[in-house]
Amino acid sequence: MNIAIDGPAGAGKSTIAKKLAKDLGYVYVDTGAMYRAMALYFLEQGIDSADEEKISAASDSVDISIRYQDGEQQVILNGENVNGKIRREEVGNMASATSIYPKVRTKLVALQQKLAATTDVIMDGRDIGTCVLPNAEVKIYLTASSATRAKRRYDELTEKGESCDLAAIQQDIEDRDYRDMHRETSPLKQADDAILVDSSEMNIEEVVATIQKICQEKM
Ligand code: DC
Repeated sequence: MNIAIDGPAGAGKSTIAKKLAKDLGYVYVDTGAMYRAMALYFLEQGIDSADEEKISAASDSVDISIRYQDGEQQVILNGENVNGKIRREEVGNMASATSIYPKVRTKLVALQQKLAATTDVIMDGRDIGTCVLPNAEVKIYLTASSATRAKRRYDELTEKGESCDLAAIQQDIEDRDYRDMHRETSPLKQADDAILVDSSEMNIEEVVATIQKICQEKM
């Protein structure tokens, strides 16, 4: 059985999916981390995100795999564990800008489908219910208002002692939503058979309980 969780940046997908995976004994697959690892490679090579030809050619030299360490997914880029490098804002934006290219998507979708074929997974991303796992038994579309998502990100960064600007974060989130929802290949959208969960007014526990209930009903 596979569970697909899609939604925009900052909706809480990974936090929720990790908790659910632990409760249900499933393997959590964070597909955004794979797009981030590819993006990191393009950044390190100094390739412009607008240069589809170079990005497509470079995709052939990228080997991405994942493994698990203490239950945490680790992304391996050409033999190097890059988990510590892919969370930066710059890498997230590059991932959003380069995930529009079919060559990048084809490579990662194949890896994701291979993972789901051998084990029960909870997979989160943008196109899991619509493209990667169209036959997933449970599909959730998890969203929240851009203001709520920006505030959560702001709190997270402030807690870490990083100075940041709430309005700029919200603008960044809205730009990323636009790009992810309007690209030609597998844009972010709710699958016809996905259940919408809007977490704008919910805390983490409430979202987990809501999705757990949906999973139980489906099982
Ligand atoms: O979920 P995230 O912020 O780590 O994802 C980074 C970017 O990767 C996101 O803006 C779009 C892209 N992505 C994608 O196109 N498809 C996915 N399944 C996951 C992420």
